Amino acid sequence: MLGIIGGSGLGHFPDLVVERREVVRTPYGAPSAALVFGKLAQEAVVFLARHGLGHTIPPHRINYRANLWALREAGVEQVLAIATVGGIHADLAPGRFAVPDQLIDYTWGREMTYAEYGEESTVAHFDFSHPYCPTLRAHCLAALEAAGECFMARGTYGVTQGPRLETPAEIERMARDGADMVGMTGMPEAYLARELDLCYATLAASVNWAAGRNGSDEIHMGAIAEIQAGLVARMPNILTGIIQRLGST
Ligand code: HPA
Repeated sequence: MLGIIGGSGLGHFPDLVVERREVVRTPYGAPSAALVFGKLAQEAVVFLARHGLGHTIPPHRINYRANLWALREAGVEQVLAIATVGGIHADLAPGRFAVPDQLIDYTWGREMTYAEYGEESTVAHFDFSHPYCPTLRAHCLAALEAAGECFMARGTYGVTQGPRLETPAEIERMARDGADMVGMTGMPEAYLARELDLCYATLAASVNWAAGRNGSDEIHMGAIAEIQAGLVARMPNILTGIIQRLGST
């Protein structure tokens, strides 16, 4: 079953035929919201609002461990993470999509592992050379192509701590590091999915030029909201394409 983690502007899903909602608890506490079980394009999916139902949880306060744990307990094997980002790469203008294949983690102080090291546990290391699931990425790319969207077929997602946006100098440094887009929720989400052996991919949607990029002098929240609304309207078609491709494999 596919789990969908909805990001900013995507606290609920217009085309989802809701069957039931379940408030769950995990050994790591409560997830961001109730899990919403339903059907999208006739396929069973579970939806989780990353920032909570009323968009009340900032990126650094999200209980990523509980979110991924709850989805796995619900029977999810693949996780599609939808995330809004700022575009650093010239091809990632607001309104465009990207399916990152790499990430750089700039976050700090987040609970980023299920391995609670103690006297009785041995240290476990997980390969993270390919942070995103190639199969789910391929379905995302095919669905974006079929939907006629403009998108970057690969890219590096730089994950910042937030909740503030970055300075132009920070974005400049991130560009030198090789980051193509900047968001605040990609980690530890991607890594925790790896620890749980879940197939995980990110569908990133650019809602603004990152600070200082493309002549941007200031980032206006009103403009972000407008771009976001346009992206959300196109999302059901893209998601249907992804789910149909998943269902037929
Ligand atoms: N920076 C960080 N996170 C973001 C941005 C940004 O510019 N836009 C959307 N999420």
